[in-house]
Amino acid sequence: RRIAVLASGRGSNLQALLDAIAGGTLDAEIVGVFSDRPGARALDLARAAGVAAVACRPRDFATRAAYDEHLFSRIDEVQPDLIVCAGYMRLLGELQVDAHRGRMINIHPSLLPAFKGLHTHEQALAAGARVHGSSVHYVTAELDGGPVIAQARVPVLDGDDAATLAARVLQREHPLLVAATRLLCDGRVTLGAHGVCLDGQLL
Ligand code: GRF
Repeated sequence: RRIAVLASGRGSNLQALLDAIAGGTLDAEIVGVFSDRPGARALDLARAAGVAAVACRPRDFATRAAYDEHLFSRIDEVQPDLIVCAGYMRLLGELQVDAHRGRMINIHPSLLPAFKGLHTHEQALAAGARVHGSSVHYVTAELDGGPVIAQARVPVLDGDDAATLAARVLQREHPLLVAATRLLCDGRVTLGAHGVCLDGQLL
């Protein structure tokens, strides 16, 4: 299976996928890493692994639609079976989202549908949540609103701040993303007309 990864920053989830592939626990190939930030560490990690790294700067385009169209034309060039958004910090164009329905996933650091958007760890602490975590979901036009594939839970501990909570979540995000990606690559998880299916059975 051919995977394209979209990432804006640190790239630790990308690295988890690269490590799983190198270690033989994920039968896939990362065929390109795409970023809206030329300085993103994710691009360095891609190059270090011998993977094509592509930066497209939104400010080089007149409109958001033109940027999205260009970005996805570059992504489509590498003919991915699956697109993984791993810390991609922009809204995706609706046209492109619809064109890749069922073939694009995102990892979001909360137990969706709770705490969509930014600053999820701060949101969880402010709400007094005792359980927090991360979700892998299909991308749809609704921000962080697509069908959830899998989640990892962590406790919120007394004395946590956003940094300690984020670190606890991140540790669980890496295996979660690898496991979810494996389910998709193996064709076990699919997006049907009525939602997520496992082995052909609607969940
Ligand atoms: C992760 O917490 C992911 O859930 C969120 O952005 C962060 C990306 O981290 N969407 P990294 O760039 O993979 O290290």
